[in-house]
Amino acid sequence: MVGLQASARRMSGAWGSAALLALSTCVLWGQVRPKPSNIVLILTDDQDEVLGGMTPIKKAKSLIGDAGAYFSNAFTVTPLCCPSRSSILTGKYPHNHEVRNNSLSGNCSSSAWQQGPEALAFPVYLSKQLYQTFYAGKYLNQYGKKESGGVSHVPPGWDQWHALVGNSEYYNYSLSVNGKEEKHGDQYDKDYLTDLIVNRSVQFLDGRSPQRPFFIMLAPPAPHSPYIAAPQYQNSFGNVKAPRDGSFNKPGGKTKHWLLRQPTNPMTNSSIEFLDNAFRKRWQTLLSVDDLVEKLVKKLEDVKELNNTYVFFTSDHGYHTGQFSLPIDKRQLYEFDIRVPLMVRGPGVKPNQIVQAPVLNIDLGPTFLDIAGVNLSQVNMDGQSFLPQMAPSLRNGTSRPYFLVEYNGEGYTGVNPDCPKLGPGVSQCFPDCVCEDAFNNTYACVRTLIGNNLQYCEFADTESFVEVYNLTADPHQLENIIKKVDPALLQTMNQRLIRLQSCVGSSCRDTKY
Ligand SMILES: *[C@@H]1O[C@H](CO)[C@@H](O)[C@H](O)[C@H]1NC(C)=O
Ligand SMILES: *[C@@H]1O[C@H](CO)[C@@H](O)[C@H](O)[C@H]1NC(C)=O
Ligand SMILES: *[C@@H]1O[C@H](CO)[C@@H](O)[C@H](O)[C@H]1NC(C)=O
Ligand SMILES: *[C@@H]1O[C@H](CO)[C@@H](O)[C@H](O)[C@H]1NC(C)=O
Ligand SMILES: *[C@@H]1O[C@H](CO)[C@@H](O)[C@H](O)[C@H]1NC(C)=O
Ligand SMILES: *[C@@H]1O[C@H](CO)[C@@H](O)[C@H](O)[C@H]1NC(C)=O
Ligand SMILES: *[C@@H]1O[C@H](CO)[C@@H](O)[C@H](O)[C@H]1NC(C)=O
Ligand SMILES: *[C@@H]1O[C@H](CO)[C@@H](O)[C@H](O)[C@H]1NC(C)=O
Ligand SMILES: *[C@@H]1O[C@H](CO)[C@@H](O)[C@H](O)[C@H]1NC(C)=O
Ligand SMILES: *[C@@H]1O[C@H](CO)[C@@H](O)[C@H](O)[C@H]1NC(C)=O
Repeated sequence: MVGLQASARRMSGAWGSAALLALSTCVLWGQVRPKPSNIVLILTDDQDEVLGGMTPIKKAKSLIGDAGAYFSNAFTVTPLCCPSRSSILTGKYPHNHEVRNNSLSGNCSSSAWQQGPEALAFPVYLSKQLYQTFYAGKYLNQYGKKESGGVSHVPPGWDQWHALVGNSEYYNYSLSVNGKEEKHGDQYDKDYLTDLIVNRSVQFLDGRSPQRPFFIMLAPPAPHSPYIAAPQYQNSFGNVKAPRDGSFNKPGGKTKHWLLRQPTNPMTNSSIEFLDNAFRKRWQTLLSVDDLVEKLVKKLEDVKELNNTYVFFTSDHGYHTGQFSLPIDKRQLYEFDIRVPLMVRGPGVKPNQIVQAPVLNIDLGPTFLDIAGVNLSQVNMDGQSFLPQMAPSLRNGTSRPYFLVEYNGEGYTGVNPDCPKLGPGVSQCFPDCVCEDAFNNTYACVRTLIGNNLQYCEFADTESFVEVYNLTADPHQLENIIKKVDPALLQTMNQRLIRLQSCVGSSCRDTKY
């Protein structure tokens, strides 16, 4: 009892007093008020929304999206793995968690991150609310490496921890299992990471205490490279190719920033073959994610928790295959890279809803804490709960009219060994030496959706380049309308951008102008 009373004293908000009352009869939530709902988050790696990334996961769509809400305007605030995942964990824009890129020097799982933002991430608050917390899968790209504290570093707030060391892999990887290294080979039945993490979550559910709510986060490697499908799916989608519509194989053109003026156009045949192959393999790996969702939902039903569990499904950012003649990657400001799939089922979320309100990855944390009964005005996150948008019978609340997307370009200071003809400052130059990133692919955008469907972006490059798109008239972002748009509107967008780039907490949600 001593430990529980100590935890209860640390709690704040609505559940604190209920739990204290309950403790006096040694029943936690049961008779006093219903215990808070359980929460599951499934976070895929590099799964796009715009180019058909949802097509292979039909069971997941039916078991989560059709059983609840599908969000048609879900965005990441930054289109790269480590900064985006850091935003999900902290509920903060990158300028506030200061994770700039996928490197240790850019704060990806660095000691500054571990001592600062990670110590205030959402699992810490859930744990204080007496949630039983479980993590399995990819965490942050530099996690578990020697220089970032090794596998013994288990982030605070997690009761059970099965995190991948380093970036996405399907076989031949190491996990930190509650701080101890566990090595895996390449036997499908024992090691396939997407299958392994759902199996571990099933074991967690069997071992949990039914008196307390739980939080499960599963982060499969799919559909990230090296996109190795399960044996039974290696011949699936044999005739599938990347979609040829929209901006596929179009030149970026003179009205786009420097990086988009570089790719060969039309693309080489070998680039097209490469990206079609990647597209097909990505879909194959997603079939195991579809199985993961089915297995987990069935288990929740078996243990009679499904009707008291919110299941969230999303991706860290989007992806492109041939758009504007860029072969494969993310990192760009365009729709294909910043839009993400998002669907949620759970108590109060009516089935078959399409929610159009804009929702960001920094809103996931605040939404979990809202569900858990945490007083959000005592939590310093930039995002806001979207419980009102998906379950209006439980909460009132308004959507934000505009938001920020920010990105720090990555480059190499030396010459790229694979493409010696290219100068320094660029990176991700494959295949055929087409570069997907550069130090000066550093930008910040304001996006409005309510009223005007507009995107306004400024680059930190020698041209102070600006791109503006009217997404209503031009959903594929083919035409930069900077020279056509009303200067007063540009000025408003610029002011919003400047304000949001230094916003903190509630000022990021301020909608006054
Ligand atoms: C890394 O984060 C710390 C705070 O956590 C910050 O002081 C530092 O400037 C960041 N580094 C970079 C390269 O942004
Ligand atoms: C795993 O590692 C072994 C030993 O290095 C190697 O033979 C095998 O090809 C690897 N498997 C995969 C799928 O990369
Ligand atoms: C996952 O569990 C299933 C049984 O439900 C088993 O057949 C499979 O081999 C397991 N896979 C891994 C990678 O643990
Ligand atoms: C590239 O592919 C196109 C269409 O499949 C074909 O017409 C063309 O000859 C190919 N070019 C080369 C250099 O192989
Ligand atoms: C959930 O389902 C169980 C039976 O599986 C039932 O006893 C319980 O009342 C249901 N709870 C809610 C909130 O509907
Ligand atoms: C939430 O916290 C704020 C600020 O500390 C406080 O003013 C408010 O009364 C709290 N709300 C509830 C419901 O406890
Ligand atoms: C929403 O606001 C209305 C009007 O203020 C109020 O009557 C209703 O109870 C609120 N609903 C919820 C779920 O808070
Ligand atoms: C990552 O960010 C750090 C800090 O800004 C920078 O020094 C480093 O060069 C970046 N890494 C890459 C690959 O761009
Ligand atoms: C962007 O960076 C590249 C590589 O360093 C450089 O060649 C180019 O001139 C830069 N362009 C702008 C507009 O800053
Ligand atoms: C965007 O396009 C729509 C449809 O063509 C048009 O009604 C609207 O005025 C445009 N907005 C701006 C700011 O140009």
